[in-house]
Amino acid sequence: MSIYTQIKDKFTMPNAYQDWSRYREKVTGLIVDGVEREVVGYEPVKEGLVKTKMVPVYKEDLSIAILGAGSCSDFDLVEIAQYFDKITLIDVDKKSMTKAIEWMPEIFKEKITLKEASLTGITDADQERFCEHILKRVSQYGNGMTKEMYVRFLLEELSVLEKKLYKDEIKLQEDILPPAGYDVVVCLGVHSQLMSLLSYMINVLTYNISSQLFQGQKPSIKMVVTKIKAMNSIVIPVINSAILKCSKEKAVFGCEYDEMEPVEGAYQCIIDLVERSLNMTEYHLKWEFNPEQNVVYDMLIQII
Ligand SMILES: C[S@@+](CC[C@H](N)C(=O)[O-])C[C@H]1O[C@@H](n2cnc3c(N)ncnc32)[C@H](O)[C@@H]1O
Repeated sequence: MSIYTQIKDKFTMPNAYQDWSRYREKVTGLIVDGVEREVVGYEPVKEGLVKTKMVPVYKEDLSIAILGAGSCSDFDLVEIAQYFDKITLIDVDKKSMTKAIEWMPEIFKEKITLKEASLTGITDADQERFCEHILKRVSQYGNGMTKEMYVRFLLEELSVLEKKLYKDEIKLQEDILPPAGYDVVVCLGVHSQLMSLLSYMINVLTYNISSQLFQGQKPSIKMVVTKIKAMNSIVIPVINSAILKCSKEKAVFGCEYDEMEPVEGAYQCIIDLVERSLNMTEYHLKWEFNPEQNVVYDMLIQII
């Protein structure tokens, strides 16, 4: 298993489905709230060998895209499938999405499309390459590597990733979020995660490399942190614009809200949406993210 995969595996929440049940119920209520469909008639559907039941026929199909769907633990997919005919789940992590829908009855699965894609433009393979390149430099220079060189290499590799970011919405629209592509678009708890694996990976690498080469003295990675923030600031307004243009009826954003200690990525999203002066409804929901470690988020749900 590569070092990148080992780092990534530490990033999963094994009890998410159980732990997030209260938040999931409330957030799903907000997603389906007001979704009304015009019934144009009823048709019989076979239920078993002899029985049939009458089900409504709707005027038009309703579609929803759920961005950063991951393990599908923070929304109720079965409930959502009662309201929508076409459900597109989008995430960089296709494995989690595939596992999440495995158990679902065929009748639901038929409605679902899985799309592996990155909202930032930086793929999983790009991040793995970043990790490999840093490790290659470490083994190339060994004890000859200084803290300054290490930080410079991090910044150089980050610049490679920065070039991959969606700089305007046109390419993002072509790849993932077509204008007026879905009736509803949902993006919950994703903005804070766009660069978080990368940040976590850098911290793990820095910790290990410091004990290997710098007698446990960590180099200052302030400039690296600043660059990651700047990358979020470039891409988040682009993602938000594309989401707003992609949703025909409703866009649902959810971000960790903390006035005292703003959450990286979440903060930029909240501010970006507020600055657009949209006609928006806001809710606060409690997300018991990791009860074992007492991590609870105040989620600001912004619905446009
Ligand atoms: C905290 S989770 C949100 C909860 C998730 N819906 C679930 O139920 O597991 C954030 C999700 O965003 C995804 N994500 C992170 N960066 C992404 C990117 N650049 N593009 C698309 N999805 C991304 C992660 O893979 C993860 O599934």
